[in-house]
Amino acid sequence: MKARPLLPALAALALCCTVPASIAAKETGPVNQTKQAEAAHTRARALIAQMTLAEKAGQLSQAFAAPFLPPLDDAVAAGRLGSLLFVSDPARINQYQRVAVEKSRLGIPLLFGFDVIHGLRTIFPVPLGLAASFDPAVVEQAQAAAAAEARASGIHWAFAPMVDIARDPRWGRIVEGAGEDPHLGSEMAAAQVRGLQGPAIGTSGRVIAGPKHFLGYGAAPGGRDYEPVSLSDAEIRNVYLPPFTAAIRAGAGNIMSAYMDINQQPAVASNWLLDDLLRGELGFDGFVVSDANGVQNQVAQHFAADEAEAAQRALMAGNDMEMALGPNAFARLPALVEQGRLPVAVLDRAVERVLVAKIRMGLFEHPYVDEAVAARVLADPAHRDLAQQAAERSLVLLHNQGGALPLKPGAVRRMAVIGPLADSVADTLGPWVFVPDKAETVTVARGISERLAGQAVVTVEPGVQLRRAIPSGLEAFGPTQTAWTEEDRQARFAAAVAAARTADQIVLVLGEAQSQSGERASASDLKLPGEQLRLLDAVLATGKPIVLVLIAGRPLDISAILPRVPAILMAWYPGTRGGMAVARALFGDVNPGGKLPVTWPRSVGQVPIHYARSLTHTPDRADSLYHDAPSTPLFPFGHGLSYTSFRIDPPTLDQPVLKPGGAVTLSTRITNSGTSEGDEVVQLYIHQRAGRAMRPARELKAFQRVTLRPGESRTIRFRIDGAMLSYWNASERRTLLDPGRFDLWVGPDAQAAQLVPLQVE
Ligand code: NOJ
Repeated sequence: MKARPLLPALAALALCCTVPASIAAKETGPVNQTKQAEAAHTRARALIAQMTLAEKAGQLSQAFAAPFLPPLDDAVAAGRLGSLLFVSDPARINQYQRVAVEKSRLGIPLLFGFDVIHGLRTIFPVPLGLAASFDPAVVEQAQAAAAAEARASGIHWAFAPMVDIARDPRWGRIVEGAGEDPHLGSEMAAAQVRGLQGPAIGTSGRVIAGPKHFLGYGAAPGGRDYEPVSLSDAEIRNVYLPPFTAAIRAGAGNIMSAYMDINQQPAVASNWLLDDLLRGELGFDGFVVSDANGVQNQVAQHFAADEAEAAQRALMAGNDMEMALGPNAFARLPALVEQGRLPVAVLDRAVERVLVAKIRMGLFEHPYVDEAVAARVLADPAHRDLAQQAAERSLVLLHNQGGALPLKPGAVRRMAVIGPLADSVADTLGPWVFVPDKAETVTVARGISERLAGQAVVTVEPGVQLRRAIPSGLEAFGPTQTAWTEEDRQARFAAAVAAARTADQIVLVLGEAQSQSGERASASDLKLPGEQLRLLDAVLATGKPIVLVLIAGRPLDISAILPRVPAILMAWYPGTRGGMAVARALFGDVNPGGKLPVTWPRSVGQVPIHYARSLTHTPDRADSLYHDAPSTPLFPFGHGLSYTSFRIDPPTLDQPVLKPGGAVTLSTRITNSGTSEGDEVVQLYIHQRAGRAMRPARELKAFQRVTLRPGESRTIRFRIDGAMLSYWNASERRTLLDPGRFDLWVGPDAQAAQLVPLQVE
């Protein structure tokens, strides 16, 4: 028979506390937040005092509860699980929650987590696309809408943002982050945390943000997912850490540790990473979750001898919760305590962190959601409008020869929209999408058809089919597709060419399928997959006017295509309203203003090719380091064209010298010198001319996206202080500022040419 506590948990908690955590979100000043956090800890400790070792281990155990997996009600009732992931149906969440609250001995509510990466029902552009907006405000709004949909559904925690710096487009997960740059990555990390979580943990309609994967996952050699990573301390501090620091400063309540081994130790077992760096130096005070099966993987990696040792090492290193598919290794924690292999204080500390998260989210007071409200929030038209706005702002006009774009809607009578991604819902939404409304997703073909309704005949033909490998485990969510027969293959190809022949304008939509990007979707080649090049050749051979829309989660090798196609628009995976955003951009209703968050290589052989490399001893030969190809990229980081043109005046400084502790202001004037309204992203790059370490030839330090009418000018100001020019020095093992000359450039991309020198004292 199950023992019941003397007092139900809720009543016990209510008695012990002076500041109810349920008001956590209402007052958000720092003093109030501290008080609320203290009260939450007091409540958590009161509860821990009543818990058995098994119940404690249960609070630290998270399990997959996807609809296609066996139900976990019994384990929840027995107190063996404290958190579930992958349930998103509000009714099912309420059911599980009822089991936890009404059937488990202590009635502790479950914390529900989910991969809300770029939306739940409303799908926003993939994070790499959001980063291309160079617009933290729109990214914050998008994640706030995603959080509203999640929270209304009963989800309390998003496994997002992914803030891994990624400099190798072969790595499929480059799509989930903000690209290659620590500054842009930090701005996007903070914006996403603010959006997901709001001003404080427990803010109504928001969820806990869980930046991931701590740390260095994006440095996967060869772009091979999960491969061991070697990083110097200087790379860790100056490149990979800043977005996490920014996310933690923005208040992130959770961090996910990483799968791979870093410098010969699994990240999940690294005391240095999780305890010293994350909690000690960065002051992170939330809870850490392992990646899925990350704890047990130490056995597969031949690091831990068995599951018990894996559990012990993960907890001791600083993970608080174990995410697992199948039985949790953390179920072994009680035995480890009993055998004297694990101090109970370490167990209690982790339980306290998890309970504090539940308390701060107000789960003890409000464990359930209202399903009718959830339905309303999930259908909110404002979220769809925001998805369109975010998609419009993420579009990057890569190439536009002779003003091929925008198209003139009145001049098009017969439009052919061709390509395997032209009318594919899944591929418009992209990876990390599980419960979208497929019927309302606007593909490029649909967007163009709606835009041209009544004005032109629109023919849509896929032409070729892309292979769709669904990562194992996610089959139940993946798109179903029947492979074409050889006969189909020939017929569809011929139909696409025929449509091209009779059209007076062709929009070709090529790129990567949803499942060719994301986790376990590394690519050894960056060329357009499948038969897309053959399709391109055949369509080009018709001689009809053509523009190319790319849908993909990484820069692709388009070197051979670029000279043959007059205009290329990079749409990433643009989301629920992505096709409408693309159509509006193609016809000039909106002017593309996004910029590349990654350097775009000419070919896979140049990879990695991020812009912030240090100079060699022959800097003048930097462009000719290969004997068989240029060593410059196809497009620099920050590149993106517009239908209008801009003039950026030479920058000036209010003082030529930066004094210790002081700041200077750089000003530049930007003018829209073209004939239509448009956006430019003014970017500030720095370079240190001499000092105690090699520093990158250029580093982005600030940017501002502005909208200007034709002829309009605006003065942009950037504040420059010592913190902006400092870096972590490996010899002295500290952050420092080297006095001397710095070069400051402003311009429209990483090749910005307008220079002003600054002397730092
Ligand atoms: C594994 C991924 O690495 C992580 O990012 C994700 O949140 C979990 N699986 C849960 O799906």
